[in-house]
Amino acid sequence: MSSRTVIRGGLVITASDEIHADVLIEDGRIAALAASGTPAARAFTADRTIDATGKYVIPGGVDAHTHMELPFGGTFASDTFETGTRAAAWGGTTTVVDFAVQSVGHSLREGLDAWHAKAEGNCAVDYGFHMIVSDVNAETLKEMDLLVEEGVTSFKQFMAYPGVFYSDDGQILRAMQRSAENGGLIMMHAENGIAIDVLVEQALARGETDPRFHGEVRKALLEAEATHRAIRLAQVAGAPLYVVHVSATEAVAELARARDEGLNVFGETCPQYLFLSTDNLAEPDFEGAKYVCSTPLRPKEHQAALWRGLRTNDLQVVSTDHCPFCFAGQKELGRGDFSRIPNGLPGVENRMDLLHQAVLDGHISRRRWIEIACATPARMFGLYPKKGTLAPGADADVVIYDPAAEQVISADTHHMNVDYSAYEGTRVTGCVETVLSRGVPVITGREYTGHAGHGVYTPRSTCQYLT
Ligand code: URP
Ligand code: ZN
Ligand code: ZN
Ligand code: ZN
Repeated sequence: MSSRTVIRGGLVITASDEIHADVLIEDGRIAALAASGTPAARAFTADRTIDATGKYVIPGGVDAHTHMELPFGGTFASDTFETGTRAAAWGGTTTVVDFAVQSVGHSLREGLDAWHAKAEGNCAVDYGFHMIVSDVNAETLKEMDLLVEEGVTSFKQFMAYPGVFYSDDGQILRAMQRSAENGGLIMMHAENGIAIDVLVEQALARGETDPRFHGEVRKALLEAEATHRAIRLAQVAGAPLYVVHVSATEAVAELARARDEGLNVFGETCPQYLFLSTDNLAEPDFEGAKYVCSTPLRPKEHQAALWRGLRTNDLQVVSTDHCPFCFAGQKELGRGDFSRIPNGLPGVENRMDLLHQAVLDGHISRRRWIEIACATPARMFGLYPKKGTLAPGADADVVIYDPAAEQVISADTHHMNVDYSAYEGTRVTGCVETVLSRGVPVITGREYTGHAGHGVYTPRSTCQYLT
């Protein structure tokens, strides 16, 4: 039996348009849109009508960078796929692309199978996978081709974390050459980890153990240097490149220069770099540990370059790099040695709201909000137009957003499985009211109505953003 829903009277916002329109949903997909009040819209009939008068009707968010249950620093990211995707739904995100991990000495397939097992049957919203390649060899290079064919079309490599995820320049070049042939997209963690480890050792020897030193040793110049090197290696390989979690002005400049040269080079930043700074890392009584992530938070002055990059399209995507560790028992592992603090921040629930606040603050337009949070991540990672827009045929992943509601972000009220909020006490205007995932209400009038297992694995095509 077919089921039909109509959403009436809202302001429909996509990356390209803003129009007062009614949205007809049939069997989990957008069936039609028509300007509200017109005969075409009045002709929409449905079993269920949602009144969106005074609200925005936007595509569900696409968060292309999450780490549910990531093993890191002797512990695991505290959100499971169940708790993390439920929190995503609360925050208006209906698709996450998480990172499966290849451990050194094991195959890509083993890593991918393990991540499927963690996610399957547990997710509240749809999900896909990137693959972290920690061990480039003849076998893994062949496996990359197979993964691209089955919908895992992007591969993260690390220029940081020697001995864990690290790849050297030769391994990076080989993986890039392979992706140039098979259509995969290399995602780069661009920090010079070899140099950083020297600075870490020297800092600890001087007795500099507090969280703020994490920010001092992971220098902006070493992010910029790695970004530059990754860009040139990609250029030599003839491959596109996506640089994750860009935080430094100097790294944005490297991306901008490469893009001016016409290269297919892309950059992602995250809410923590746009809204937080080294001031947070310097909070007393070890509270700074809550803000330890890599690349690190930067001095406030860097934020302007990130906002400018988002406006000029030198940066294309805002994802969260959601990788929560509780303060109690997890971040505390690094008391007396900042290098033992597990790296990562919670944020999957906060991204859409924080970026809406950025619209109100004049950093970006409403359409750019949807572009960087929904449409471009979907295009970048081969999910468009199924995800990331509201158009006939697209999945009915729809958020009814109240642009006037006030909220205060807090660990007391959030739904992420972590004992603190990186944005504690931050006032934002705008709130998710109702969320449909393939037409099914998972948040209904600010109540959770979804369930674990509703979200399904979503294979992806290759990058749709190349010029
Ligand atoms: O600190 C971070 N970003 N943790 C997650 C792993 C990564 O490098 O993305
Ligand atoms: Zn990273
Ligand atoms: Zn990450
Ligand atoms: Zn369901």
